[in-house]
Amino acid sequence: MKNAIDWLQLLANNDPLFLTDKPVGLISVAGGSKVSRRSTPWSSQCGRYGGLALPLVAPISHARRAFDHDGRLREPELQRQLGAVAQAVAAAAERLRDLELFPNRAWLGSLGCECMRGPRMGYTSPVASKEARVRITVVGRGNVEGALARLWERAGHTVTALGRDGGDASDADTVLVAVPSDAIANALNKVRGLNGKVAIDATNPFAGRNENYESLAHEVKAVVGGAVAKAFNLQHSALYDRIDEEPVRASNLFAAEDGARRMAEHLSRDAGFDPIFVGGLEHARALEDAVGLFGAIRRAGGGPHFHRFAKPGNFHSHDHRQGTPRAYWINTFRSVADPLKLAEYVKLAGPVMLRSGGRFLARGRPTRVYEAGVMERTVVIEFDSAEQAIAAYESPDYREALRALGAGAERDIRIIEAAS
Ligand SMILES: NC(=O)c1ccc[n+]([C@@H]2O[C@H](COP(=O)([O-])OP(=O)(O)OC[C@H]3O[C@@H](n4cnc5c(N)ncnc54)[C@H](OP(=O)(O)O)[C@@H]3O)[C@@H](O)[C@H]2O)c1
Repeated sequence: MKNAIDWLQLLANNDPLFLTDKPVGLISVAGGSKVSRRSTPWSSQCGRYGGLALPLVAPISHARRAFDHDGRLREPELQRQLGAVAQAVAAAAERLRDLELFPNRAWLGSLGCECMRGPRMGYTSPVASKEARVRITVVGRGNVEGALARLWERAGHTVTALGRDGGDASDADTVLVAVPSDAIANALNKVRGLNGKVAIDATNPFAGRNENYESLAHEVKAVVGGAVAKAFNLQHSALYDRIDEEPVRASNLFAAEDGARRMAEHLSRDAGFDPIFVGGLEHARALEDAVGLFGAIRRAGGGPHFHRFAKPGNFHSHDHRQGTPRAYWINTFRSVADPLKLAEYVKLAGPVMLRSGGRFLARGRPTRVYEAGVMERTVVIEFDSAEQAIAAYESPDYREALRALGAGAERDIRIIEAAS
């Protein structure tokens, strides 16, 4: 265990970055007659090395009898227990990713405590957020699916990805098509339950197009039959994870039939974009052709970029046109008693802030503190107005996040208007 953690610490300063800033789940195995079954010595060792211990142990009393000649477990109960340990470790790593307590490279060592209590093997994985609103099936399991799924799941939606084997989309509220352009018909024909669904087509014609259709979106329409939108095709999937860093919202140009417009707008917003409607599906081809222009900007030195379209007076953000000062929600943590409660809170509160119009300007541990400053999590969220920030705090959804936090942290929240 110590070697593995040392290795991670070494890697944290490596260039190029590898596992830096990523939560890492580690399952340790110990053998011999002196190994304690109790979790306490394990967790204190783990804490000493800067790890966060889950007090779950799957004891194997006779290793020789437990495994067969091929190394497979004989006992189903033991298999279940080891499976539960693996799931708990993966779930905790997921929660830590949400926690974002690990700014820059100094993530390791920041959680030197055992924070999860419960009976042995009694830990259950976190349940899906109650915020879940849209069930999205993505056809394609590549870059676009991975990046959008992270953003949508963070906003409380559920995402199911289907690959080459196809699958069932009957439960989906909407279907996102994210496969190479020459695979659209093939991929969709393997999916059951698509008929009449609202579909969003994110494809670009890099692999050619079926000229029988006016656009790739029309090809999607021909198979799915429901209302279709063309959206996300001008976004760089590699930039999605950085969208929150921007002080203003990037635009997401989309074309849509009436029945798909609301869904495309809604999912654009929840992915962190400002949706810009360009008209009906007859404009889908123009969006597909625009990929040439956007590629030219990239090659000419603009690199992978966000773009923003706005009416005069709206370029910075929505608030300035009215002369209403922006407001800042400044949240400083004095202490964190239970990082997992905090993780649950972050998971619920983040989407509430985004839905309430908040933009995360900074979050994590401070670079440096002075005077009465405390080296604990600090969050700065910008709102279009103080009213908006107050409404976010007082919303029922945020109350639910506060309930999840309980006594897990002591904080000081201030909402302050921008200086004029
Ligand atoms: N990447 C971007 O930044 C970006 C941005 C905007 C739009 N787009 C467009 O979005 C689409 C997806 O892009 P991507 O970058 O996500 O591509 P990708 O990473 O190459 O992934 C494509 C996915 O489609 C699957 N696929 C290929 N043929 C299939 C078939 N016949 N049936 C079912 N699935 C099939 C692939 O399966 P396997 O994993 O089995 O190969 C893979 O999971 C493309 O049309 C692309 O032009 C991409």
